[in-house]
Amino acid sequence: MPANKKLLILPGDGIGPEVMHQVERVIEWFDKRRIATFDVTEDLVGGAAYDAHGTPLHNDTMRRALEADAVLFGAVGGPKWESLPFGLRPERGLLRLRKEMDLFANLRPAMVFDALIGASTLRPEVIRGLDIMIVRELTGGVYFGEPRGIETLPDGTRRGVNTQVYTTPEIVRVARVAFELARKRHGKVHSVEKANVMESGELWREEVQKLRDAEYPDIELHHMYADNCAMQLVRNPKQFDVIVTDNLFGDLLSDCAAMLTGSLGMLPSASLGAADSSGRRRALYEPVHGSAPDIAGQNKANPLACLLSFAMMLRYSFDMGQEASLVENAVKRALDAGVRTADLVQGGTKTVSCSEMGDAILKELDRLA
Ligand code: IPM
Ligand code: MG
Repeated sequence: MPANKKLLILPGDGIGPEVMHQVERVIEWFDKRRIATFDVTEDLVGGAAYDAHGTPLHNDTMRRALEADAVLFGAVGGPKWESLPFGLRPERGLLRLRKEMDLFANLRPAMVFDALIGASTLRPEVIRGLDIMIVRELTGGVYFGEPRGIETLPDGTRRGVNTQVYTTPEIVRVARVAFELARKRHGKVHSVEKANVMESGELWREEVQKLRDAEYPDIELHHMYADNCAMQLVRNPKQFDVIVTDNLFGDLLSDCAAMLTGSLGMLPSASLGAADSSGRRRALYEPVHGSAPDIAGQNKANPLACLLSFAMMLRYSFDMGQEASLVENAVKRALDAGVRTADLVQGGTKTVSCSEMGDAILKELDRLA
């Protein structure tokens, strides 16, 4: 028997715990069916960790994350913690996990389920069959660049500074992930920056092109400015296969892409590090939606992005493609059957709660297994 897979679950704040609870039910289902057993540890992150320990990520939690085979993350943040000093805010917990686990490649797939075509604000023909993979650089750029800070000037006014910075290795390693994914998909990559106004964008463009010419001549590479990409995503999103972009543009463009699929509540993500000599990668999986404090604790949230993140974990961390498809199919069938949380509701469908969506997924899993 191979050792059980070590999973660290960090539900976090807001709707994080309630959507994560539905994933825990699916983990129990896998265990009961003897499909897979996970050694699960749960811990605090974000505002919840701050309330308990005075820090958004305790050092013990950081250590557990580094030792785990995979981390499942819910969401962090909320009005309660917004006035804390910058370094203690809930988001710092997530950013520290990304940085110290060196999770440089963030995969955010935007896929439209047929049953949800009517839930999108775009016309059906624009989004039917949509399948985009956004690869966002996650440990560099303006999120981490130095110098940063707010200073008071001699005249009493203040100055806020952040730095956008990228090096060749940082660009090359994330571009490589995008090219490899494109090879398994439709062979097309759009590299997105603002080379027209930023030197870091010019470097990005040159390095991505060099890598393509040297190692991926089979891939069709396009360069696009980030503002144009935002426009093209709503004008004609099906022109894209894989998009590779920096940390900040990736943050914006993935929210935009999420809405093409009908709801921010549908988008999962995987954050991956480099493979070590044994092929093991550090990895964290999280829904792209945030903590949604306005609906937290009301059992209204859509747990599907979190469940689909769990499916990505099965596929990318544990090479369990079949089991991942099982979860994805259960989601598809529940949606086909008209099961909708409030964010997805259309005329003629009935609204279910977060836990009722969980019930529906378990019922579909029973049927499929
Ligand atoms: C995301 C989020 C985070 C980010 C926040 C919560 C720090 O918006 O994962 O997209 O900006 O990266
Ligand atoms: Mg974001």
